[in-house]
Amino acid sequence: MEPALDENELDDGEVTGVEVGNENVLIARIDDEFFAIGDICTHEHCHLSDGWLEDKEVVCPCHHAKFDVTTGEVTRPPATEDEPTYDLKVEDGKVYVDV
Ligand code: FES
Repeated sequence: MEPALDENELDDGEVTGVEVGNENVLIARIDDEFFAIGDICTHEHCHLSDGWLEDKEVVCPCHHAKFDVTTGEVTRPPATEDEPTYDLKVEDGKVYVDV
């Protein structure tokens, strides 16, 4: 697992984008739980981390597709393909992601 960010860099209800290895990863914090999925929209490659959370879904800023950050599943078109999910752990105030 690779360190991705400090736990306190991300507020509850927010998303951020990090590069881990060669992967663009979106990290979301919901009710003090962290989730990691792919950050590049499967529609036309916008960064989902430039979007926003609605409950447990991230909204793509480009054409408003939605993805469930807990499963990577696409929940609103125009995207049709799911995002990958990544294992993640929080230890000693740091968020680690397995890419
Ligand atoms: S690039 Fe994300 S919805 Fe089009």
